[in-house]
Amino acid sequence: MNQRPNNSLSLSDNDSFYSPSDDFAQQARVSSMTQYRQMHEMSLQKPELFWGAEARELHWFTPWNQLLNWESPHAQWFTEAKTNLAFNCLDRHLEAGLGEKAAILWEGEPGDTRAISYKELHQEVCKLANVLQSSGIGAESRVIIYMPMIPEATVAMLACARIGAVHSVVFGGFSADSIRDRIEDSGAELVITADTGWRRGKTVPLKENVDKAISSNSQIKKVIVYQRTNTPVSMQAGRDTWWHDEMASAPGQHEAAKLDAEHPLFILYTSGSTGKPKGILHTTAGYMVGTYTTCKYVFDLRKDDVYWCTADVGWITGHSYITYGPLLNGVTQVMYEGAPNYPDFSRFWSIVETYKVSIFYTAPTAIRAFIKAGDEFIKDHDLSSLRLLGTVGEPINPAAWHWYYETIGNSRCPIVDTWWQTETGAIMIAPLPGATPIRPGTATQPFFGIDAAVLDENGNPCPPGVAGKLVIQKPWPSMLRTIYGDDDRYRDTYWSDYPGKYTTGDGAIMDEHGNISIVGRLDDVLNVSGHRLGTAEIESALVAHPLVAEAAVIGAPHELKGEAIVCFVTLKAAESQSPSLSSELREHVGQSIGAIAKPDQIYFTSGLPKTRSGKIMRRLLKELVNTGEITGNLSTIEDPHVLEELKATVLGVSS
Ligand code: WTA
Repeated sequence: MNQRPNNSLSLSDNDSFYSPSDDFAQQARVSSMTQYRQMHEMSLQKPELFWGAEARELHWFTPWNQLLNWESPHAQWFTEAKTNLAFNCLDRHLEAGLGEKAAILWEGEPGDTRAISYKELHQEVCKLANVLQSSGIGAESRVIIYMPMIPEATVAMLACARIGAVHSVVFGGFSADSIRDRIEDSGAELVITADTGWRRGKTVPLKENVDKAISSNSQIKKVIVYQRTNTPVSMQAGRDTWWHDEMASAPGQHEAAKLDAEHPLFILYTSGSTGKPKGILHTTAGYMVGTYTTCKYVFDLRKDDVYWCTADVGWITGHSYITYGPLLNGVTQVMYEGAPNYPDFSRFWSIVETYKVSIFYTAPTAIRAFIKAGDEFIKDHDLSSLRLLGTVGEPINPAAWHWYYETIGNSRCPIVDTWWQTETGAIMIAPLPGATPIRPGTATQPFFGIDAAVLDENGNPCPPGVAGKLVIQKPWPSMLRTIYGDDDRYRDTYWSDYPGKYTTGDGAIMDEHGNISIVGRLDDVLNVSGHRLGTAEIESALVAHPLVAEAAVIGAPHELKGEAIVCFVTLKAAESQSPSLSSELREHVGQSIGAIAKPDQIYFTSGLPKTRSGKIMRRLLKELVNTGEITGNLSTIEDPHVLEELKATVLGVSS
C-alpha cells in the first residue's frame, strides 16, 4: 500500500483508485470499506433495523407499524405513521435550540445578501402555510411554484409540505407552454411566482409567463406574486395578489398537519420517451427518510459545515439537496440566485471564499465550463474552506474530474460522484467519502438499502466489465410511487423489463469490486448540461411549427453540454426553407419548452430514414452524425436512397 500523505487522497496500488486520507476517514461517519460493507449488508438483510434507526432520528406524531408494504410495483413505507416534513426541517431544530443557526445564506445575482435563521425560516413558512389555507388550499391541493432561486422558493415548498398540499415546482427557465401543460396535468389551483428573476444581468419574465400560461385557463384561482426585482407586472384583480400583502397580515403560528406517511408530497415533471413529460409522484415519509439519510452520509455532514448545492429548485437535485436533505439535517447552506458566470467566471469561487463553503455540490457541465474559462478566475480566491466536493447529473469525464480535484479541491477533497434520478428521489450510488476508494468517473458503490445490479437482456448479471442495464432489485424508501394520473405508464416504463425490479433507463458497467460506472441513457432521453430532455418532446415542438412536416432528434457529444441537440427536419414545402428558418425553429422550440431545449444544429432534408412500418430510424442518424458513416443494419429501411442525401447534408454542412 502506498504511504498516504496525511491530508490528501492517495492513489492505491493499481493507480486508478483514490483512497480517503486517514484524516478524513478518522472523522467520517463511515470510515472504512469494512464498515460500509457491514452496514450495506445489514441494510439489505434487515431493512427494519437500518431504516428504523435512521427514521427514529426524525420526529413522528405516530410511529409506523410496518416498515414496508410491497405489492410490486407499489410500495408503502412506514405504514400507519404520521409525520410532517416541514416540521422535521424546522420545528425539530427549534425545539433542539438551533433556532438562531443560519439556515440559508443567500446571495442574489446583483450582489444583495440575506442570512435567514432556522427560526426566521420557520416563521415565514408558518405565515405562508396560513396564507395558503386561507386561500382554500388544503391537503392534496396542487400548487405550482415558478420562482427564481430565492429563499421564498424554499418557503413555498415547505409551506405546502406543512399543510399537506402537493407542490409542483416548474424550473424558472421553462416556457409558458410548459407551465400550462404542468398546470393541466397536475390539476393545480394556485401558482406562486415572482415578478421577474435575475439571470445574467437580465430579468426573466416569470409573472408574464404565468399570465400567458393561464390566459385561457380558469382552473387557477389565485396567483401569489413575490416582488423580487420591482419590475412592473400586470396584476389581475380578484386573482393575483402580492406575497408581501398576504404575509403582512398572516399569523406567524401554524400547527403542522399530521400527515400519513404516504401522503403525496410533490409532483416533479421530467422527460421520458414520449412527447409528454411524466409527473413523478413522491410521498412524505419515505422521501423524508431517504433524503435525510443520504445527505447525512454521502456529504458526511457535520454541525459546522457550510453546504452549497448549485442546482436550481426546479430540478430534483434542488428538491432533495437544497430544500429537504440539508434542512432535515439542520445544516447551514448557501443559496445563490444567478448564473455561474455573472459577472464573470469567478462568481462561484468568490461565494465559496466569502461564506467559507465546506461542501460544494455541482454538475460536470459547470465544471467543464470553468475549465474552458481558464484558471485565472480561480487563482485569487481562497478555497481552503472546502473539504468535500460532489457531482451529479451526468457522467464526469476523467479530465474534468482531475481538474475539479486538483484545481478546486487542491488535491485534498474527496469527490462524491452521485448517481440518482428524479424517480429515485435520493442518491442511490455514490462513494462514502471516508470509506470508498474513488475512481474518476465512477459512481462506485450503492448506498445503504440499495440493491443495484447490472443485468443483460435475459435478466442475468453481466460479468465484471460488461455493460448492461442498471436496475434496482428491491424497493427503497424515497422511490417514486407512480406517474401522476398514469399508473399504466409507471408500470410500463419502470417495471416491465424484469418483474419486481426497477429499470433505471441507464446503461452501466460493474467491476469486480462492485463499483458501478454509468454509461448513459439507453432510451430516447438526452442529457443536455445535466438536464433531461426527451427527443420526442423536442420533435413534437418542432412538428407543431406550421412549416415542419417531420422531425427526428438525436444527441451528439458536446464538449461543454455533454450532449448537443441535433435535429433533422423535413418541411411541408421544400421552397419554404429560408436562411432564417433554422433560427426561427430554434426560437420556436425555446418558446414551446424553454431555452435549454433549443437545438444546437438543424439539418433540413427531404426524407428521414424509416422502417417499413414507418418508425424513424434514429440510430442511423446518430451514427451518421457521430461517425460520418452509416454501417448499421439497413435491412429494415424502407427507402435506402434517403441516406445518400442525408450523408451529403451532414457531411457537407459544417454548422
Ligand atoms: C444521469 C438528476 C452519470 C443518468 C439527479 C440519470 C448521471 C439521469 C449521474 C437522471 C451520475 C445522474 N453519473 N449519470 N453521477 N447522475 N445521471 O432525473 O442518466 O434529472 O438517469 O436526476 O441523469 O436525471 P434527473
